[in-house]
Amino acid sequence: MLGRLNHVAIAVRDAAKAARIYGVAFGADISEAVPLPEHGVTTVFATLPNTKIEFIEPLGAESPIAKFLDRNPDGGIHHVCYEVADIRASRDLLIKEGARVLGSGEPKIGAHGKPVLFLHPKDFSGALVEIEEA
Ligand code: CO
Repeated sequence: MLGRLNHVAIAVRDAAKAARIYGVAFGADISEAVPLPEHGVTTVFATLPNTKIEFIEPLGAESPIAKFLDRNPDGGIHHVCYEVADIRASRDLLIKEGARVLGSGEPKIGAHGKPVLFLHPKDFSGALVEIEEA
């Protein structure tokens, strides 16, 4: 069962700089920058009443968003994250329906300390989809 929209992620060169205007002009609560070496990104969150905006910047030489930023030097929307109740059950149903799970297929711990998986954009209308166990 698909749950809430947890966040929309925007890839940028400088996450803190990108998030700043959401704080000063929109009054959003802005998190500290959190490095996630396992995902090759540093994240900064702007919290909105109904969801979050996740700003991600490359971390390390092998960052999975490096190519995206080469193609989109000004930044851009990178993925959407939906909550699911049971990530392994959701993964198994998605695979059964022909969707491709990126990486090893085993959930990794994401920015909120919860298991996440990424799904192939070609199976989701061109949008990279992250699922997070709520
Ligand atoms: Co995300």
